[in-house]
Amino acid sequence: MSNNSSDSDNSNDSPAGKTWPLPLWIAHRGAGKLAPENTLAAFRLGARHGYRAFECDVKLSRDGIPFLLHDATLERTSTGRGAAGEQDWAALARLDAGSWHSPAHAGEPLPSLEAVAAFIIGQGMAINIEIKPTPGQERQTGEVVGREVLRLWAGSGQVLPLFSSFQPEALRGARDSAPEVLRGLLLDKLRPEWLDEAAELGCSAVITNFRLMDEATLAAIQAAGMKALVYTVNDAKAASRLIAAGIDGIITDAVDRFPPSR
Ligand code: G3P
Ligand code: MG
Repeated sequence: MSNNSSDSDNSNDSPAGKTWPLPLWIAHRGAGKLAPENTLAAFRLGARHGYRAFECDVKLSRDGIPFLLHDATLERTSTGRGAAGEQDWAALARLDAGSWHSPAHAGEPLPSLEAVAAFIIGQGMAINIEIKPTPGQERQTGEVVGREVLRLWAGSGQVLPLFSSFQPEALRGARDSAPEVLRGLLLDKLRPEWLDEAAELGCSAVITNFRLMDEATLAAIQAAGMKALVYTVNDAKAASRLIAAGIDGIITDAVDRFPPSR
């Protein structure tokens, strides 16, 4: 399969004329069921299964360093305690983010966005960075992650990430600091005016819970000139239904069961 980074046909162009960065199949949280989520071990595992594109969750340390973590707190996926956004990166970087998953991954660190960018760029892969702010830090997180992505990808010759967020304010922050990086609005329900909201944010994609993505919803997104993506599809029947309907991207945990055909 291609990671689309060098394709130049129109189907890979976003409405704004920028290159759409992602193939159909995208590994969720790195590839974070078989390895600890949002760690480099998970990215390496996904790559071993042939995945060339990854979703991950990014937030800020107290001193403003973007790093990977899903939850606002540290307990579930690391040896840390309390709110992740209240600790400096030097302390977060010493935590064990692997032993909660399995002994084989003991000592796996929380990765900085910089470390993940080095992996993705070095492998010529693609990434969907979900901006997952500590509550109250939405705008600032979007702005800082936007600046950091432009710094990390500068001169790499590689396709830029896709940003996504459930938080419109985070997408506004990213738009302010990195307008050239494509954005996607994440939705876990279809609230009123959701499509207008995505358009107002200048989004190139809408990414919904897969249960929300019926044919009418998919058609409405694509008719508005945006890509339609879904998370988190781990069921083969659901994947087949969505592919037949023309879905543009599928975020999955099941990297061992779904070979990334494109
Ligand atoms: O970005 C898609 C998906 O990751 C959203 O849900 O909770 O796994 O971050 P969550
Ligand atoms: Mg996510």
